[in-house]
Amino acid sequence: MTDAELDAALDRAAHWLRTAERVCVLTGAGVSAESGVPTFRASDGLWEGHRIEDVASPDGWDRNPLLVWQFYNARRANVATVKPNAGHFALVAMEDRWSDRFTLVTQNVDGLHLEAGSRRVLEIHGSLRQTRCLTCGSVTNRGSEPLGDAPECPQCRGRLRPHIVWFGEGLPDDVWSAAMVAAHECDVLLVIGTSAVVHPAASLIPISKRHKAVPAKVIEVNLTPTEASAYADVGLYGPSGEMLPKLLQRLG
Ligand code: OAD
Repeated sequence: MTDAELDAALDRAAHWLRTAERVCVLTGAGVSAESGVPTFRASDGLWEGHRIEDVASPDGWDRNPLLVWQFYNARRANVATVKPNAGHFALVAMEDRWSDRFTLVTQNVDGLHLEAGSRRVLEIHGSLRQTRCLTCGSVTNRGSEPLGDAPECPQCRGRLRPHIVWFGEGLPDDVWSAAMVAAHECDVLLVIGTSAVVHPAASLIPISKRHKAVPAKVIEVNLTPTEASAYADVGLYGPSGEMLPKLLQRLG
């Protein structure tokens, strides 16, 4: 994008945001890239060295839970060393403006939105910080504490698994329902740092447009156009850690 194109795009996006009653945000791995968390589909992406089906599927877990925990413990250790970036903080400032009319739906499991200070966060793919007991079902926030390769439930000594949505698994019903409501009710949907190829998360984008008198305006923030671009009313193509603070500044 040229400077003039970006300027015009920022103006349009800011105009829609200023007049929006309700705002919904969908984030993906790109929003954390500038914090040092690898994205999934980059060539040096997160799965490198592992087959997805070995470390992020129920079958992989049944075959080798030790390997799965080693993989997630390495990811837990990595996110313990990273910090939210300017993009995360710009979203906190936006939430301050709209308060409970602002919902942030994230596909990320790194917890960086919460660490930055966002409050209404729906972690639709779960969280690296949380464990789930396979015996009593309790979900516990373990922060970045080291867990070992075969962690047990502090309550019932049952086996724990990461509280993460794996391939072939459904999203948690309550969290997903809230995300659909937020996408459907919003006037503006910001789609940030996601390739928008993983469903049902990506279906929030068409949901924001469908079955309403005034379809939401979709603002895409990404390094490049994506599957979301067909729905985007405007694109801010550049790093989210730069684009979001610029957008925030234009809101006045
Ligand atoms: P992807 O790795 O598919 O896409 C990351 C997107 O971020 C790409 O479109 C990049 O162009 C963009 N990007 C990279 N750096 C950026 C930056 N600094 N600023 C803005 N954009 C940037 O990640 P997701 O779309 O999040 O699911 O992947 C979705 C899901 O696929 C993940 O939640 C995960 C994975 O399978 C589960 O684990 C269930």
